[in-house]
Amino acid sequence: MSIEYKIRLVAELITKSRHAIAFTGAGISAESGVPTFRGKNGLWTRIDPMKYASIDGFIANLREAWEWYKWRMELVEKAEPNPGHRALAELERLGFLKAVITQNVDRLHQRAGSRNVIELHGTLWVLRCINPSCRYSIGISEPPREVPPICPECSSPLRPSVVFFGEELPREAWRRAVELASRSDLVLVIGTSGAVYPAAYIPFIVRDNGGSIVDINPDRDAYSEIADVYIQGRAGEILPRIVEEVSRSDSQQSSI
Ligand code: OAD
Repeated sequence: MSIEYKIRLVAELITKSRHAIAFTGAGISAESGVPTFRGKNGLWTRIDPMKYASIDGFIANLREAWEWYKWRMELVEKAEPNPGHRALAELERLGFLKAVITQNVDRLHQRAGSRNVIELHGTLWVLRCINPSCRYSIGISEPPREVPPICPECSSPLRPSVVFFGEELPREAWRRAVELASRSDLVLVIGTSGAVYPAAYIPFIVRDNGGSIVDINPDRDAYSEIADVYIQGRAGEILPRIVEEVSRSDSQQSSI
């Protein structure tokens, strides 16, 4: 099957769907210059995730871990949403996409104009106190100048509100994601290895309810074999072509 054919097929799945969602991972931000976690040059190939992305490792290596998060915040702050992010925002605007369920913590979907974004792994742009009995949290728009930043209420260190290994997903985000997936007849899986659970269940929930899976990734991932359509390619190249096709068939429909 040629890529052109697959793009037409996906556009048709989208225009015929009643309730389509996207499920995204680090790969959709790769073309914005934000590194992925696995694979060549992935963040986890350079550092041990347990060192910075588990609560024990984070506390034990506080300053070093914070330097790493600050570096990631600076990188993401400078990055711009790419055509892949913008294509999903456009699909939502056209009324074809109900939500983006993302594992990303960079907020690039929101900056591209997506409105209904569910952040399953939290965000870099909210800090909260590591002291479990202190409820302090604060939204930030730039990386903290001094690290580690300190809680103004109890003087414990603050942490980024990203999900560390071994932690539960934010409850409300997970509840909404499962609810949306259960109602969906189509999920566009973009730029994720599908290696991290429970987030990786989302496409399976759609499939188990009879919905279709479209998988877009330059490399095969956990869904490529079971997907109704697997498109081998980069999100920033494939998604705009799909949106173009959707817009074309949509305008043909409305002129009939
Ligand atoms: P991964 O790094 O595991 O996977 C990224 C995927 O994106 C790979 O399958 C790549 O082939 C693919 N990819 C790379 N460039 C792409 C492009 N231009 N277009 C489309 N796909 C591309 O990232 P995630 O699946 O997001 O968790 O990882 C899941 C979780 O593991 C992350 O949320 C993070 C990490 O530990 C937390 O931080 C809690």
